[in-house]
Amino acid sequence: MRQVFLRRLDGLTDVLHGIAMRKHRDVDDHAALLWGVAVALRPEVIVEIGVRKGNSTTVLAHAARTVGGRLFSVDIHECPLAERRVAQLGLEAEFSWEGRDAAGRFADGAIDLLFLDGDHSHAGVEADLAAWGPKIRRGGMVIAHDAERPGVAEPLRQSGWPAVFLAPGRPGLALLQRPETDRLHAGAGADRIPDPERKEP
Ligand SMILES: C[S@@+](CC[C@H](N)C(=O)[O-])C[C@H]1O[C@@H](n2cnc3c(N)ncnc32)[C@H](O)[C@@H]1O
Repeated sequence: MRQVFLRRLDGLTDVLHGIAMRKHRDVDDHAALLWGVAVALRPEVIVEIGVRKGNSTTVLAHAARTVGGRLFSVDIHECPLAERRVAQLGLEAEFSWEGRDAAGRFADGAIDLLFLDGDHSHAGVEADLAAWGPKIRRGGMVIAHDAERPGVAEPLRQSGWPAVFLAPGRPGLALLQRPETDRLHAGAGADRIPDPERKEP
């Protein structure tokens, strides 16, 4: 097993504490889980859709720092509080603010991990999957927040991408994987995560 040094997780307590102390609670219910899964996936390029006050932003920026990756954050509104929090936690080096309409700035297959927490309507999630799906590399991952809301759950299921619920119940956190081949889109086991190393027969 590769050695992990706790001192390299410097600042994680501040990130999680900063979220737990905020009055409006949301992603905080899953903050440590989100961080752990993001780190375990070792993404180089993380894109976050939906920033607002920056709870997921600080968690994902810290995860990016832990694995030597970078977080690109997208929102239709300015999010000055989130940017301030990133700066206060000393995470600017791993963070880029992308603003709105950012999908066109990413090459196809460029993204290792997409965090989806923007427009929670059925049409909005569908539009995000259509715009961002091709930007995720094959075998790359999506973590979807509020995944048990009908408006979010339905288009996720309809994508046909294999999925597991990391945190069932509301708000819910789901992990999906972009299939290695388009053949899997046609509804192949929505609860099955294929091994990215496995070669198709
Ligand atoms: C639930 S909040 C995000 C919370 C944030 N992830 C956190 O952990 O604090 C949803 C955010 O998505 C943004 N949003 C809504 N529709 C969007 C879209 N189509 N693209 C990008 N961001 C969007 C909203 O402006 C809002 O800031």
